[in-house]
Amino acid sequence: MNDQPSKPELDHLGIAVPDLEQGLALWRDTLGLELTGIEEVPSEGVRVAVLQIGGTRIELLEPLNDESPVAKHLEKRGAGIHHVAVKVPDLEAAQQRLRDAGKPPLRDEARPGAGGARVNFLHPKHAGGVLLELTTGHGSHGD
Ligand code: CO
Repeated sequence: MNDQPSKPELDHLGIAVPDLEQGLALWRDTLGLELTGIEEVPSEGVRVAVLQIGGTRIELLEPLNDESPVAKHLEKRGAGIHHVAVKVPDLEAAQQRLRDAGKPPLRDEARPGAGGARVNFLHPKHAGGVLLELTTGHGSHGD
């Protein structure tokens, strides 16, 4: 059994989809990934399908409403990779290091994400064009 990792790990890739069932038709039904859960994350305005792939996950993100950041992503850029999520051993410390480096996270405080994680984001302008999610990792989906 692993203790808290001391190095960052790839936690999941977030993929924006207009329709969760359509996404599941590919990732679960055709490619054979295991669906470990579907949940709503109102704080992010999304319904999330979590699929296990090796030691990491793919999260399909369907917007809950037009105000959802994922709805805006679909509108501007279409379906596709929305964010890369990195699990960090100490979220507070990681956020502080980014502030110190002049790359402040999007929010002052981390918020609840899928699976009981706490998350914050780094804007693509600070992260080489990638929306970067920093996460404590999923509590309820196991490790
Ligand atoms: Co995510």
